[in-house]
Amino acid sequence: MDRLDKLLARSGLYSRSEARALIRAGRVSAGGQACAKPEAKIGEGVEILVDGRPVDCSAFRYFMLDKPAGVVSATDDRCERTVLDLLPPELRRLGLFPVGRLDKDTTGLLLLTNDGDFAHRVISPRYGVLKTYVASTASPVTAEDAERFAGGLTLSDGTRCLPALLEPLDGCLCRVTVGEGKYHQVKRMLAACGKPCTALRRVAIGALELGPELGEGGLRELRQIERELIFSSSLG
Ligand code: URA
Repeated sequence: MDRLDKLLARSGLYSRSEARALIRAGRVSAGGQACAKPEAKIGEGVEILVDGRPVDCSAFRYFMLDKPAGVVSATDDRCERTVLDLLPPELRRLGLFPVGRLDKDTTGLLLLTNDGDFAHRVISPRYGVLKTYVASTASPVTAEDAERFAGGLTLSDGTRCLPALLEPLDGCLCRVTVGEGKYHQVKRMLAACGKPCTALRRVAIGALELGPELGEGGLRELRQIERELIFSSSLG
């Protein structure tokens, strides 16, 4: 149970004082009953309406962003634009943070949430959630490179990587699938095979794919079924 004004502010659409004003003005109902008391205790999951329209007051929220190049995967930065700067003002109140990091010049699928447990399960190699990238390399990758990825290659500083999948695509493009997220991992793995990466885009996390429909900088909330897709794949 939580106060109605607190739950309504959790939507990100209203500040706490705006929520109180709406409630006192009689514009809010909870569980089918009009409620003019900001301090009224409401159960988790009870439907809240403002002016007859449902408002999402869930504690945790989950979004997918098609990250453009040139922004950093951080919540704030003294010099650089961050992925949070791309959010509309009402979503900046939700306490969202990026789930893991993409390099400043890497584009593609980045999850944003305010659910720390969820983020941990996506990032930690213990859960083996696969991240899939399409990379451009200076020259085409070979079957021998793919074998080195599959065997778990060692980076130039001696770091051992878990087995990963490398699939040649057309020309100098390839698909890379990894179950961990070491610093600059994909670029360093390709460099270790003598195939420097010239561009990198994340296209999937687990079985959740980034389609073309969002467009660079586009953001949308994930459905429950899409969140489940994230945890439904492994490197066989
Ligand atoms: N691997 C990299 O090298 N860079 C990224 O941004 C993500 C994975």
